[in-house]
Amino acid sequence: MEKFVISGGASLKGTVRISGAKNAAVAILPAVMLADSPCIIENIPNISDVKSILFAMEKLGANIKNIDKSTVEINPKNVNSFLVTKEMAEGMRASSYFLGALLGRMNKARVAPPGGCDFGVRPIDQHIKGFEALGAKITLENGLVEANAKELNGASIYLDVVSVGATINIMLAAVKAKGLTVIENAAREPHIVDLANFLNTMGANIMGAGTNIIKIRGVETLNGTTYSIIPDQIEAGTYMAAAVATKGDVLIDNVTPKHLESIIAKLRECGAEITEYDEAVRVVCNNRPKKCNVKTMPHPGFPTDMQPQIATILSLADGESVVTEGVWDNRFRYIEQLILMGANVLVDGKRAIINGVEALKPALVKAVDLRAGAAMLIAGLATVGETEVVEIERIDRGYEDVVEKFTSLGADIKRVISPD
Ligand code: EPU
Repeated sequence: MEKFVISGGASLKGTVRISGAKNAAVAILPAVMLADSPCIIENIPNISDVKSILFAMEKLGANIKNIDKSTVEINPKNVNSFLVTKEMAEGMRASSYFLGALLGRMNKARVAPPGGCDFGVRPIDQHIKGFEALGAKITLENGLVEANAKELNGASIYLDVVSVGATINIMLAAVKAKGLTVIENAAREPHIVDLANFLNTMGANIMGAGTNIIKIRGVETLNGTTYSIIPDQIEAGTYMAAAVATKGDVLIDNVTPKHLESIIAKLRECGAEITEYDEAVRVVCNNRPKKCNVKTMPHPGFPTDMQPQIATILSLADGESVVTEGVWDNRFRYIEQLILMGANVLVDGKRAIINGVEALKPALVKAVDLRAGAAMLIAGLATVGETEVVEIERIDRGYEDVVEKFTSLGADIKRVISPD
């Protein structure tokens, strides 16, 4: 087991380069299996969730060649298995995308239910509703989700909840279906637009991605292509939050500022000075953060995946803030860990009432999930003394070179082997 040991208290200063978006990569990589010829995918983040997807694709028959740290060439020609076992799906939420991608490729899929972060119930009923509307039969056999279709035909699908995963999965299954599919109340996240752009580059006909109505006119074949994944909005937001919490001055490079609008708006309310450039943002914070209220919502609202990071800033703010979770049932499990560091937070259902303290104190804390883990790093970096963060494999799921990146900003953070 490994842990992070952080000797915090220094203001972060310098430039950090953001990697490719995890949540775009985990959709685009399975989508490669819809092509007839090889694809080259660039700007892939080197994180364990991506490694799990590539491992599963190799088992399905894809030929994968690493060109460099962030580029792979994938030849899907020999993908002939449609079985994603529990071992292959372990630990990643995005295994469900194999359902859509394999259905789209060969009209059948058998996939172990997804793992990933524990935020209470994580249903896939909207994915199933979409597949069924396209003509697939879905059953649960021996703990595996089975999807079978004679053929897939376009349909109109209204999502009862705005779901990133269901929107992506339906796009994957519908892109080669016969006729027109319309997804209403679709999710609008940047990674949905990125997937649509990728599929369109391969020859798909998808319109409206980024709005809440997506129209997909099925095509017979998709060709291989070269495509570069968008920068990671949440990794960028995490370094921005770390700059604010440590009263730092950080240039966050290789980002799309448009994707960061809600994060920029809220960090400005917290007192940060933020300058936007074409592909970078500079975050400067000289004073104690200010209180503010935050409600998470689907894009373009404030992202739920930034909720723990901003709550950590607010635990140090002057005054009382209320953070309301508007996406997941239970995303406050990390609050217990923040309280171990001296934060003053009361959780009341989907709201956390945070009374800022002047300083947190170092402690031994757990990364209870990926973004919660990022929040613990921010808390440790902002706190004088030695904080230890354990169960960090959850952080490695989504943050490339996290030690190297924080170290380059002047942080004292080490990855060490923990005997227990
Ligand atoms: N939901 C349903 N039925 C469904 C699907 C979702 O009721 O069939 C509900 C969920 O329970 C939740 C809401 O809809 O309350 C939104 O879930 P969504 O499907 O949008 O989430 P997801 O696709 O499972 C992705 C990201 C998460 C991120 C959410 C929301 C990936 C691989 N994961 O999950 O990212 O929190 O969208 O933006 O894209 C992370 O990166 O740390 C992470 C957890």
